[in-house]
Amino acid sequence: MHGSIISALGARSMVGDTYTLLCFQDCCAALRDAASFSSCVYDEKVGPAMGEMILGMDGPEHRKRRNLVARAFRQSTLERWEDSLILPICNELVDRFAGVGRADLVSDYAFELPIRVISAILGLPVEDLSQLRRWSSELIGVGADVGRALGASAGLTEYLARVVASKRKHPGDDVISDLAEADVDGEVLADEVIYSFLRLLLSAGTETTFRSIGNMMYLLASHPDQLARIASKRALIAQAVEEALRVEPPVLFISRRATRDVRINGVTIPEGASVEVCLGSANHDEARWVDPDEFDILRPAKPHLAFGTGAHMCLGLHLARMEMRVALNVLLERLDGLRLEPFGDEGDARDPHIRGLVFRSPDALPVVFERSE
Ligand code: HEM
Repeated sequence: MHGSIISALGARSMVGDTYTLLCFQDCCAALRDAASFSSCVYDEKVGPAMGEMILGMDGPEHRKRRNLVARAFRQSTLERWEDSLILPICNELVDRFAGVGRADLVSDYAFELPIRVISAILGLPVEDLSQLRRWSSELIGVGADVGRALGASAGLTEYLARVVASKRKHPGDDVISDLAEADVDGEVLADEVIYSFLRLLLSAGTETTFRSIGNMMYLLASHPDQLARIASKRALIAQAVEEALRVEPPVLFISRRATRDVRINGVTIPEGASVEVCLGSANHDEARWVDPDEFDILRPAKPHLAFGTGAHMCLGLHLARMEMRVALNVLLERLDGLRLEPFGDEGDARDPHIRGLVFRSPDALPVVFERSE
């Protein structure tokens, strides 16, 4: 239901009321008006664990910092990673279960891919992957367990200090070396600035992307007609990626703070109010999409809000799309007859579902397919 354009939930935050934006147009208006809707709210929410990060900055400071890594995540810069990094990782993961005839596409595939990709792009060694994955999921879970997130932050910082010092001595072709050598107004970046960047890139690059791959594969496996259509016409993969991101965005809410009294769609949001921008609802706005709750890879393409919009629009969106595209293509290439593992009645633990309110994805996705070498 998207009848209400804007809702004051009545929950009193430390600073004022909380307003939730639900419609596509209203969400876009707020995200594109950074002067009236500040991102500083993230400093309050996740700052203690993540440090000072671009996600919580506004204005010229945000632009300057974001530009330091923007080049590394441009579509043209990323192209080289498709065949040299993402494709081999996907194939290596499929090698592990192709001969078995069954797999859990969450734990065996979606969960493994993004951490390997982002670690390689940053320049972190493969043998540290499991520790890095633990830190990144504890960091992003700061809302649920602050103590654990602070512990992860301290552990990761100590680790990164060693890595950054070594990259300063022996720079490589990676993002950490770029940051360690970056020249900003004649000065190198302070170590803490580099660590904050890396904490954000590692957790943002991992948690959202593995969930998106799980969501996409869940949607396709539960719509076998559409999966079959893509299998015979791979040009549809890009549409499938976008439709999965629209129907099941992995991040449902992003936050802002009103810096002044501001009117949105006839409602005045008072200065100081917390604003929750509901990407999940915006992507199901019936004023923009026909039958918005239906998963339909053939619907006319229209931009959605899974990656946000405006100044903070996801820095890793080209990378995320590339990972989703390659992940799906490799599964279709390698596994014939891919389908959900049959499960029993409702309540059967094997019946997969997409769950979660802050982050959404399936916990598991058991599938079967013809065995192959
Ligand atoms: C499908 C996967 C992904 C989704 C759905 C997603 C979603 C988002 C959203 C909604 C925002 C905006 C937050 C806001 O405006 O408050 C954002 C920002 C960001 N994302 Fe992603 N993201 C994904 C993958 C990635 C990847 C792979 C990276 C790695 C580079 C990444 C790095 C970032 C960064 C650094 C920001 C902050 C940008 C800024 O503040 O200027 N994301 N992401």
